[in-house]
Amino acid sequence: GKDFLKLADFSTEEILALLELAADMKAGKGPVKPLAGKTLGMIFQKSSTRTRVSFEVGMLQLGGHPLFLSNNDLQLGRGETIYDTAKVLSRYLDGIMIRAHGHEQVEELAEHADIPVINGLTDSYHPCQMMADMLTIQEHKGKLKGLKIAYIGDGNNVAHSILIGSAKVGMDVAIASPVGYEPDADIVAQAEGFANEQGSTVVITNDPVEAVKDADVIYTDVWASMGQEAEQDERVQKFTGFQVNEELCSHAKSDFIFLHCLPAHRGEEVSAEIIDGKHSVIFDEAENRMHAQKAILVACMAD
Ligand code: CP
Repeated sequence: GKDFLKLADFSTEEILALLELAADMKAGKGPVKPLAGKTLGMIFQKSSTRTRVSFEVGMLQLGGHPLFLSNNDLQLGRGETIYDTAKVLSRYLDGIMIRAHGHEQVEELAEHADIPVINGLTDSYHPCQMMADMLTIQEHKGKLKGLKIAYIGDGNNVAHSILIGSAKVGMDVAIASPVGYEPDADIVAQAEGFANEQGSTVVITNDPVEAVKDADVIYTDVWASMGQEAEQDERVQKFTGFQVNEELCSHAKSDFIFLHCLPAHRGEEVSAEIIDGKHSVIFDEAENRMHAQKAILVACMAD
């Protein structure tokens, strides 16, 4: 089995093949119960609606069994090592999905586990989210390569996976963040390398209008994510001018689509007019978490 930790680990061809499998599964054309008799452990160090439910239902639809493992109920939450946890869980399970605080914890788990490990969000990346996002863009725009995606807001884990995923499939990507909240420089450099191979562009700016100009896809995320609640007031101040609203979206292509990984805060990072308006495809995007992840589960866990 193969791990699914970050999109940089996969070739353009592998990503496109996963998206094709996801589209097939969504159309009811995929393999029948390919994970029959297999169990996926799902470790959550943070709360979740979409990731938990979409993995759990997706696993059931594939004929397998999902096992929810709250971090607080595991000895891992009381100091048992990741090494021992990986070795023990490998004796019971056929795969692990983990939402963890630190990306290096997930890398360590994958290194010592004898079964596939799937990243359900870390501080660095959200690769399953970006697979669902690309599936959604492809459905609504008929292609990926040559489109422009603009991400407005915090240069966070979601932004990092958008950068890498977009560059891998040849979408032009522009990220606009306030000063001090730009995406990680090393990840930007890595995305630039992949974009060069595809003939596409990566733009990092502090100007939301520049990022949104002629965009086919506009994307945003919350200004303060899980664990950043103490910074909420400071962030709301710093992110003023970065709200995705009708004025900002007037700079995009007239047929742009709006994406948000959710949960959303209407009136902060996005206006209600945009998130609940005709350009928004957020619930297709949320549904596509399940289809994209079913493809990932099959690729990682099927015999
Ligand atoms: N987008 C996303 O990962 O949602 P949850 O935090 O609800 O899983």
